[in-house]
Amino acid sequence: MPRARYKQVVDRLAADIRGGQLIPGTRLPTHRQLARSHGIALATATRVYSELESMGLVSGETGRGTFVRETALPPGLGIDQPASNPDMLDLNFNYPALPGQANLLRKALRELAVAGDMEALLRYQPHAGRQHEQQAVAAHLRDRGIDVQAENVLLVSGAQHGLAITAMALLHPGDVIAVDALTYSGFKVLAETYRLELAPIAAGADGPDLNALRQLCKTRRVRAVYCMPTLHNPLGWVLDLPTREQLATIAREHGLLIIEDAAYAFLADNPPPPLATLAPERTVYISGFSKSVATGLRVGFVAAPSAWVPALERCIRATTWNTPSVMTAIACRWLEDGTVAQLEAQKRDDACQRQAIARRVLAGLPLVAHPASYFVWLPLGEDVRADQVAMALLQQGVSVSTAEPFCTAAQVPHALRLALGSLTLDVLPQALQTVRDVIERHTY
Ligand SMILES: Cc1ncc(COP(=O)(O)O)c(C=O)c1O
Repeated sequence: MPRARYKQVVDRLAADIRGGQLIPGTRLPTHRQLARSHGIALATATRVYSELESMGLVSGETGRGTFVRETALPPGLGIDQPASNPDMLDLNFNYPALPGQANLLRKALRELAVAGDMEALLRYQPHAGRQHEQQAVAAHLRDRGIDVQAENVLLVSGAQHGLAITAMALLHPGDVIAVDALTYSGFKVLAETYRLELAPIAAGADGPDLNALRQLCKTRRVRAVYCMPTLHNPLGWVLDLPTREQLATIAREHGLLIIEDAAYAFLADNPPPPLATLAPERTVYISGFSKSVATGLRVGFVAAPSAWVPALERCIRATTWNTPSVMTAIACRWLEDGTVAQLEAQKRDDACQRQAIARRVLAGLPLVAHPASYFVWLPLGEDVRADQVAMALLQQGVSVSTAEPFCTAAQVPHALRLALGSLTLDVLPQALQTVRDVIERHTY
């Protein structure tokens, strides 16, 4: 039987197990029944089960049969589970931090304690943030080429919160949202929880296939498009100006809301104008300080057309009331005194350095990445199974992500996403070398 067909049987069973159609404890057909039902040789059926077993999805019990295992992935592998083992080398999540940043925080907290209005910080704040903070973020956005007024800016508890309030305020469960076939995993989780239907757009050479988006808009009632034009996570693309203009045109022709996620945009040197500039009347622009400053701050921001601001504010009220003002005070002070700009520049250099390490250690492998990004996408060969590689890496103390959390299409590619931003520079090469070794060991 051709290898591709054999892999399909493994993939289909794996998808049914992960998707919950085959629940833990289910007894699977005998090897002989599986062979018969799929028209495959008995030896091939045995191999299908042994692959599923090595992926950690089933267990064979002598004399009893093959059973679906509990699929809760070990800590560190699931997108929602941080690597809980402190010895785990984390190539799964990105929390880039530079060596001097803890001292910056110490200094900022001391200054806030001395000069801040402590009484005010103890109180509720306006939902969208205090006015001078909205002004500070608006000035920051103007530096990025977005002509926005302070009253169109809302401070939120991280970009993920910005995405969530956008969904709550402007979308309805059941709405069809066009997304990249590989997209930011947090948006996929949000769509699942809020019951949005994600319609995947295949990738072209350096961005989404816009003809596929046009076609989709003709056949379905698409409400919005979620995109990352500047430094796409996980593929690293930066859309050129003509592509952005076309995207804006399609959105206008079909009345689409554009959700522009710019979480990593600061890493791209001199990108074309954001969609929020090209189609300001229909774009909600969302970003934050997680990657440029620190993930623990939980400060992000949303810029939106005036008509949508009240609904967005109401959703902040419904979720957090306001973003904690101790944190917004620190973030905005760092905006105003140039610390954010300085950290952004240092992190651009840091990301370039990490990419160079990845390109050296993983040379010869088909990496997909922007030269200044904090992650790489690593498609695996025809014969290599991503789950097996991820599981084997975990056993070696390295956590990575497979394509699954990022994939919105039916067919999940066998690939890894490696986050380069979290490990210290002295251990990063070794962790990447382990990835390389394990992949090579799993290549037949
Ligand atoms: C593309 C993208 N958008 C949004 C977020 C969420 O960021 P935050 O930590 O600000 O909620 C992330 C985090 O990794 C991201 O990669």
